[in-house]
Amino acid sequence: MVTLGVNIDHVATLREARKVDYPDPVIAAELVQKAGADQITCHLREDRRHIRDDDIPKIQSIIEVPLNLEMAATEEMFQFALKTRPNKITLVPEKREEITTEGGLEVFSQIKALKEFCDKLLNQDFYVSLFIDPEEKQIHAAKELAVQAVEFHTGTYCNSQGDKKNAQLKKLRRACELAKQKGLFVAVGHGLNYNNISPVTKINEIEEYNIGHSIIAYALTVGLESAVREMKRLVIN
Ligand code: PXP
Repeated sequence: MVTLGVNIDHVATLREARKVDYPDPVIAAELVQKAGADQITCHLREDRRHIRDDDIPKIQSIIEVPLNLEMAATEEMFQFALKTRPNKITLVPEKREEITTEGGLEVFSQIKALKEFCDKLLNQDFYVSLFIDPEEKQIHAAKELAVQAVEFHTGTYCNSQGDKKNAQLKKLRRACELAKQKGLFVAVGHGLNYNNISPVTKINEIEEYNIGHSIIAYALTVGLESAVREMKRLVIN
């Protein structure tokens, strides 16, 4: 069965732009679940630019679907995971200056440090996924770390055009096939939207999608009319 995880960070980005208490990612999580999402995905960044520490337990208390916590491989995040026990941990690379997660985790070249970190998580019975580029050497390295899952960064596919896009799709397909052969659970995410998702869905090995920005952006379009209508009603009364 194919599942959809919805990344609600972007709701919190809007809240943090004003440092107010709305829009509330907890309410977003509830609505997303109601609409059929199979998982809520949140990235707790080191700079807390969107999701905050206190959002996570609140979200956990209202959702019935699993929580996938994206985090960097740091001691601070390890301690946070121990405290909150998310259903899945996706390890992502993190640079403070980036606008979003620009590439996959360099597992191959950091295997020693990551082995130590993944062992710590696995010893605590966490389900661990690594967010990696769709490259053979990264898949082999992920397998060596004995994690349960990988999530392929689809950003390069999403950002390319024409023949290059087709080549990226082929690369993604090969990576999904290899990961599946190796016994890894296969997820994909980043940059997927209503226009570019269809060819990806033809890759049968994909078991999970994590999609955020395009869904939250589209929600603005489809929801704006009723939001204005309601304010207009309040203004004229
Ligand atoms: N998966 C991972 C690991 C991510 O870091 C992100 C972005 O936060 C996503 C999926 C969702 O990407 P997007 O918001 O572009 O759909």
